[in-house]
Amino acid sequence: MADRRVQAAKGGLLLAGGLAWALLAPTTGSGESKPSVPGELKPGETLFNNNCGRCHGERGTGTSNGPPLVHKIYEPNHHGDAAFQRAAAMGVRAHHWQFGDMPKIQGVSPSDVDEIVKYVRWLQRQAGIF
Ligand code: HEC
Repeated sequence: MADRRVQAAKGGLLLAGGLAWALLAPTTGSGESKPSVPGELKPGETLFNNNCGRCHGERGTGTSNGPPLVHKIYEPNHHGDAAFQRAAAMGVRAHHWQFGDMPKIQGVSPSDVDEIVKYVRWLQRQAGIF
């Protein structure tokens, strides 16, 4: 009887350990699953982080203010590069999601958006989206 209680207690500890590991692992392990951004895409990354990241999230993974751009529906055949130019220049009326409209983004030029698109396409390719 006492033995079984010890076993049960050990099992509980193992479970708690596993849980702690599962909770901590995504932060500690994230370095390996994220390939580093190639040098020529750094300008796009910075432009993205400064102008788009507050809604579309770090590495385009989305936030509570906007959808992930690293997503099947934004692959090149569905949302080509022109859709990115249009989104930045004119904003987007909410149609795919429930985040509300995207405002037009002040202070990014078409060539800035070109850089952003290159970065986002790279992120999409890394995620195996196309
Ligand atoms: C204030 C939040 C916000 C910011 C900042 C923002 N977006 Fe968006 N964006 C959204 C939301 C919300 C949607 C989704 C609209 C919908 O429901 O389809 C969206 C949609 C898009 C789309 C899809 C357009 C389409 O045709 O469906 C593209 C492309 C896009 N954003 C690119 C960008 C880029 C590039 C930047 C930075 C220059 C940016 N966004 C900055 C909120 C934002």
